[in-house]
Amino acid sequence: MKSYIETKDLVKVFKLGSVEVQALRGLSIQIEQGEMVAIIGPSGSGKTTLLNIIGGLTSATAGQSWVAGREITNASSAELGLLRQKAVGHIFQTLNLIPTLTAYENVELPMLAIKMPSSERKKRVTELLTTVGLGMRMNHKPDELSGGEKQRVAIASALANDPPIMICDEPTGDLDQETGSKIVQFLHKVNKEMGKTIVMVTHDAALARQTDRIYRIMDGKIISVQKPSESEESNAAMRVEMYRDRLTETELEIADLEHIYKDQKINAGTFAERWTNLNETKKFLERELHRMGL
Ligand SMILES: Nc1ncnc2c1ncn2[C@@H]1O[C@H](COP(=O)(O)OP(=O)(O)OP(=O)(O)O)[C@@H](O)[C@H]1O
Ligand SMILES: [Mg+2]
Repeated sequence: MKSYIETKDLVKVFKLGSVEVQALRGLSIQIEQGEMVAIIGPSGSGKTTLLNIIGGLTSATAGQSWVAGREITNASSAELGLLRQKAVGHIFQTLNLIPTLTAYENVELPMLAIKMPSSERKKRVTELLTTVGLGMRMNHKPDELSGGEKQRVAIASALANDPPIMICDEPTGDLDQETGSKIVQFLHKVNKEMGKTIVMVTHDAALARQTDRIYRIMDGKIISVQKPSESEESNAAMRVEMYRDRLTETELEIADLEHIYKDQKINAGTFAERWTNLNETKKFLERELHRMGL
């Protein structure tokens, strides 16, 4: 039985000239319906890439994915279009609000795409903007709104077509702590009261701890899964085990990489990029284990 959102051994390779960037390298994740999970990890670790695959914006180079209980691994672009319109509400790291449209029009846009009748649209846009506390700002353009207000328009717009899943990429990114925390409180409401499954990327450990589960991602792989509700000790013990496994794996990968470079199977650019990355991961893991007194 597959989870509501699931990926298995996802690989994503971006090619830039002769250099290959491997953004995901065997990433597996399982999220159940109704859960709110956080994904945390360093810059460049593959968080946005993962969200873009789950959200049907990009396809993976290898591996399988299931979203809303359906396999999307080999979905056609029309099927992915439907997924984006109906199944997944996406709040982008860069927000993606249209600067020339008002808050009202930005929220209405996804409804126009599915040809929702005009009276229903009007009711729903007004309702959504009121829910996010922007009933008095409907005719403001993004430039005429504060950071937190823009974020709320983006949330209303992601909820426009009542998708069962919400994907939020750093929804508190540029906001001060208080505004950020209000946004996350609102997402909790969306999760509990509207029953949406929420996947949220955040760099804020305190906000991550308020979710059902925290996935840590590093160098394109999940390195630990943590339940904030479990005791700190059992979480720490689980982390140590995962970090140790990952360290052994990383050391093997470094040795492998040096081999294939010597055999001239990859070019210097790809080798250097990969080698630096792996050594960064190794250093991080050693530092963390050291910090935990090991
Ligand atoms: N379109 C692209 N073309 C080439 N490389 C890309 C592309 N998108 C992402 N990458 C690379 O893939 C890796 C993962 O990027 P991603 O955006 O998923 O990271 P992230 O974890 O979201 O980082 P951040 O926290 O900074 O947003 C990075 O090394 C990045 O440079
Ligand atoms: Mg990102």
